Amino acid sequence: MQQVCSRVTRVFVGTLIHAPCLGEVIISQSILGIDPQGKILFIRPYNQLEAVKGEFEFKDTSIVQLSPSQFLIPGFIDTHIHAPQYPNTGLGLDKPLLEWLSAYTFPLEARFSDPNYARGVYNDVIRDTLRHGTTTACYFTSVHVEAAKVMCDLIHKWGQRGLVGKTCMDCNSPPSLSQTLETNIQGSKQLIAHISQLGSSLLSPVLTPRFALTCSEECMRALGVLAREGHYHIQTHISENKREVERAHELYPTADSYTHVYQECGLLTDKTILAHAIYLTDQELGICKEERVGIAHCPVSNFALKSGVFDSRRILERDIKLGLGTDVSGGYTVSMLEVMRQTLIASTCISFQTQDPAYRPLDYREAFHLATLGGARVLGLEDKVGSFEEGKEFDALLVDVNSLRSQIRADPGLSVSEKFQKFFFNGDDRNILEVFVSGRRVETQ
Ligand code: GUN
Ligand code: ZN
Repeated sequence: MQQVCSRVTRVFVGTLIHAPCLGEVIISQSILGIDPQGKILFIRPYNQLEAVKGEFEFKDTSIVQLSPSQFLIPGFIDTHIHAPQYPNTGLGLDKPLLEWLSAYTFPLEARFSDPNYARGVYNDVIRDTLRHGTTTACYFTSVHVEAAKVMCDLIHKWGQRGLVGKTCMDCNSPPSLSQTLETNIQGSKQLIAHISQLGSSLLSPVLTPRFALTCSEECMRALGVLAREGHYHIQTHISENKREVERAHELYPTADSYTHVYQECGLLTDKTILAHAIYLTDQELGICKEERVGIAHCPVSNFALKSGVFDSRRILERDIKLGLGTDVSGGYTVSMLEVMRQTLIASTCISFQTQDPAYRPLDYREAFHLATLGGARVLGLEDKVGSFEEGKEFDALLVDVNSLRSQIRADPGLSVSEKFQKFFFNGDDRNILEVFVSGRRVETQ
């Protein structure tokens, strides 16, 4: 019987670096082949190129030999980012969360009633996130559904993997952003239909009640019902700031906790992404674990808005899904490299405060895992992306620690592990030469 060969469209020969388990970075000298659907067809040892040529169909296959300063890593996964806030990066960070929202964020988001304004900003944010190596992002847009549709069209055009939500707000909000419950639900449904019409395997909707302070109980309940009916993702904010937690208790005086409010409204599922979660009690974390929600840790934003210091270890010890987010524009950068570094700083701060001598602050290997496979788990994409495995989609970055434009100079005598550390701590977008989503090289300029 004749064997049917799978076709290989592109092959990389060189160093692969990924973190399939927490705390362990795997480095290999390999050959990685990609099939026409953008999936990883094989990963074999470095010296087996001739053998794989006999096993798979090589026709118009591009063979890329990486240099000693280059390696492939999985693309970064930003589990929490506000696309319309991109023009505000670096602005207004002298105010705490609730004042910052009123003074800076809400007035900017009101401008997205104009889809043409949205188009310009959304185009820029997608290009910039891709350029910084974000192959998957979980986006909040504004309340405006037409602008949210534009965002989906643009993500589809650029070829990024994304979850997109129309933000829902129906109380305690400025009139320019407050919509009726009906408009919020209809808008969410319209966005779901739009994404379905685009027919992209890279795009999914995410139901997006902004948070309990600006969404009525009725609105949250209706979104919870919609999510369960269609098995959709849900994203919201929780316990980011002490004043916010107080307000949640004032608005829901009979609820046991902020987490209970969301649970009661049916918003906690295994497809829910809760951003920040700094001040959750042990009991609330128990609910998160039980409901199998994921948490988006946003350290750049937490430090910039002086919201608090998040304890990643406390989440990981409870085996709750944890990913990282930029939270633009509470966070002042789209760079997941910067988010990973500040994840380490936050964890180190906690280790200085704690009385527990056995407390282990996170190390860079763990932060790298959270920015890749950890984020994939939070978004329910762990079978598709986040690490290099045969059968997964090829979402990856081609990194050069000594790229011509880079500021870094890594001595050629460094080990591969040291070159990776150089990139982790000193690298930036100039070291990311190429970005691949589902096997396709995406434009980043
Ligand atoms: N809580 C509610 N809305 C927001 C927002 O836009 N950014 C942040 N950081 N927190 C929020
Ligand atoms: Zn946010």
